[in-house]
Amino acid sequence: MTARIRTALTDLVGIEHPVVQTGMGWVAGPRLVAATADAGGLGILASATMTFAELEAAIAKTKAHTDKPFGVNIRADATDAPERIELLIREQVRVASFALAPKRELIARLKDAGVVVVPSIGAAKHAVKVASWGADAVIVQGGEGGGHTGPVATTLLLPSVLDAVDIPVVAAGGFFDGRGLAAALAYGAAGVAMGTRFLLTQESTVPDAVKREYLRRGLQDTVVSLKVDGMPHRVLNTELVDRLEHSGRWRGLAAAVSNATKFKSMTGMKWSTIVRDGLAMRKAKDLSWSQVVMAANTPMLLKAGLVEGNTQAGVLAAGQVTGVIEDLPTVRELIDRIVGDAAARIDALAALRDGANAAPGS
Ligand SMILES: Cc1cc2nc3c(=O)[nH]c(=O)nc-3n(C[C@H](O)[C@H](O)[C@H](O)COP(=O)(O)O)c2cc1C
Repeated sequence: MTARIRTALTDLVGIEHPVVQTGMGWVAGPRLVAATADAGGLGILASATMTFAELEAAIAKTKAHTDKPFGVNIRADATDAPERIELLIREQVRVASFALAPKRELIARLKDAGVVVVPSIGAAKHAVKVASWGADAVIVQGGEGGGHTGPVATTLLLPSVLDAVDIPVVAAGGFFDGRGLAAALAYGAAGVAMGTRFLLTQESTVPDAVKREYLRRGLQDTVVSLKVDGMPHRVLNTELVDRLEHSGRWRGLAAAVSNATKFKSMTGMKWSTIVRDGLAMRKAKDLSWSQVVMAANTPMLLKAGLVEGNTQAGVLAAGQVTGVIEDLPTVRELIDRIVGDAAARIDALAALRDGANAAPGS
C-alpha cells in the first residue's frame, strides 16, 4: 500500500498525496491531468495555450477519465479570464491556478462558488497580496524551475514566503523525488509542485524524441533567456536559443511578429484581443512594447518543440532538474515512489530526533 502523508494541501483540495502536477502550456492536457488525479495527486490543466472551446473540451475529457479533483491554470491577464472562470464554476472544477496574481474580484467570485484558488507567485510580497485577497494557498516557484522564473532559488524563496503568509504554501522549482518532498515539508510547505518531472512521464504527450532530448541533458544544460519572450524564461540550451541569445534586437522582433501572426490564426484570436491582452500585460508587468510582441511569440516556439517535436525550431521550457532525471515512469509509479521515499525520510529523521538510532554505548 502506498504511504500516506496528510497535509493542509491534501485536506484543502481533497486529494490523497501532497504532490501537484503544474499547468504547463502544451504539456498538461487531459491525459496527464487525469493520470495524476487517479494516482492521488493534483493535476492542473494548462489553459493559456488553449482556446476557450479547447478548454471546454479538455475539461470534459478529463472528467470522462477521472472522478477525482483536478485544477485548471488560467492566465489572469487574459481578456477572457472572467468567462474561463465562469466555465470552471459551471463545471465544478476543484482548483483554479493562476500564472499571475488574479484580480481580487476574480478570487472572490471563485471562492463564493467553492472553487479553491491557488495562484503561483515568485516573491513573498505577491504571496501577501493574494493571501489578503482570499487566495486559499500559493505555489511558490524558485529560480531552478522551468518556464518563466525568478532569480531566487527555492531554498531561500520558500522560507521567505512561509514566513510572510499563514495560508498553505506549495513549493515548486527543482523537485523530483521523495527527498525533495520531505525537505519541502520540513521547511513548512504543504506539498510540492513539479513541472519538468511530470513532463518526463509515460502519460505526458510530449513526443518521445523530445523526452529523450531532456533525459540526455545535464545540470548545466538549461539557461534563463530574456530573448525568447522578453521575460526570464528557463529553457533547454539548444542551438535555437543560442542563436536567439546572440541575435540583434530587430531580427528577434521580426520573427516574433511572424509567430504572433501564426498564433493568431491558429487560435482564431482577433488582433483587437491580442492588442488588449498586450496592453493588460504591459501594464501588469511593466513591459516594453517589444517585450509584449515577443511574449505573443512564445506559444508558437513552445508548440514547435513540445507538440511537433521540432527541437531545432522550437523552444523547450525546462527546469534545472532535467539534469538529474533519468527515467520515464508512469505517473502512478512516480507519485507512489515520491510519497513512499518521503515517508521513509521523515521516519528516518524522526528516529534521529528520538535517538533511536544512537550507537550502543553512546
Ligand atoms: C514545458 C513547461 C511549460 C510551462 N508552462 C507553464 C504555463 O503555461 N503556465 C505556468 O503557470 N507555468 C508554466 N510552467 C512552469 C511550471 O508550471 C512549474 O512552475 C515549473 O515547471 C516548476 O519547476 P520544475 O520544472 O523544476 O518542476 C511551465 C514549465 C515547463 C517545464
